[in-house]
Amino acid sequence: MTEDPYGDEQLVELYDLDNPAGEDHKYYLGLAEGTHKVVDFGCGTGLLTRSLAVPGRVVIGVDPSTTMLGYARRQPGADAVTWIDGDHRAVEPTGDLDLVVSSGNTMMHVAEQAAAVTALAAALRPGGMLAFESRNPAGRAWLQWTSEATYGERDTAAGHLKEWLELTEVGDGRVVFDAHNVFPDGHDRIYRNVLYFRSAEEITADLRAAGFTDVVIDGGWHGEPLTDKAPLLVVRATK
Ligand SMILES: C[S@@+](CC[C@H](N)C(=O)[O-])C[C@H]1O[C@@H](n2cnc3c(N)ncnc32)[C@H](O)[C@@H]1O
Repeated sequence: MTEDPYGDEQLVELYDLDNPAGEDHKYYLGLAEGTHKVVDFGCGTGLLTRSLAVPGRVVIGVDPSTTMLGYARRQPGADAVTWIDGDHRAVEPTGDLDLVVSSGNTMMHVAEQAAAVTALAAALRPGGMLAFESRNPAGRAWLQWTSEATYGERDTAAGHLKEWLELTEVGDGRVVFDAHNVFPDGHDRIYRNVLYFRSAEEITADLRAAGFTDVVIDGGWHGEPLTDKAPLLVVRATK
């Protein structure tokens, strides 16, 4: 088992196929319109990061997974982005960013949310925005993450893959599960994931403490109201 749940080269090759651009990318690209300097925090394979990198805009992708960032750096168009290995400690407090985006529920992987949003606030200019999404804890998605419900098999470029999740711990918004992956060599590659399901109140408190004065949380990509039935918390915080 490795500490980086995204540390497997063959699984990272499949990531963009499993997570293609969708409504989330349209939303973040819309927020970026007219901006000059943007950070994609927890950029992963850089699919969104590279589409943010239009002429005249400085785009920086930050991620602690060397495997994810290695993949990002090898993709066409990667030269238009500055890639930085690390977490919030690697984000410089330049105070000149127009926007920080963090897609794919990256903030749910961040144990130190308060420290992370404080560092991101220091990198933003006054009036700059931090935008991210996080699963709504009211939906208790982890109840669906049984081995039986998540078991699947498929053919991949690296051969036939059997995959499933095994929930190991749930408590206080912290959910731990092992992702199992068996390729034809028969070896079970197990990657432990820790996700933090945070309420709108917890997120708002951390953002306000970090100096964000205007915090808006929608229940979806199109301004849907935030109810218990909303699958996501879509967060925009302005400094
Ligand atoms: C589900 S992926 C999302 C990647 C990308 N943003 C996307 O939309 O596809 C989560 C990413 O968060 C990164 N990550 C994990 N812990 C982090 C942290 N403390 N700070 C920043 N990124 C982190 C992982 O390495 C991984 O690339």
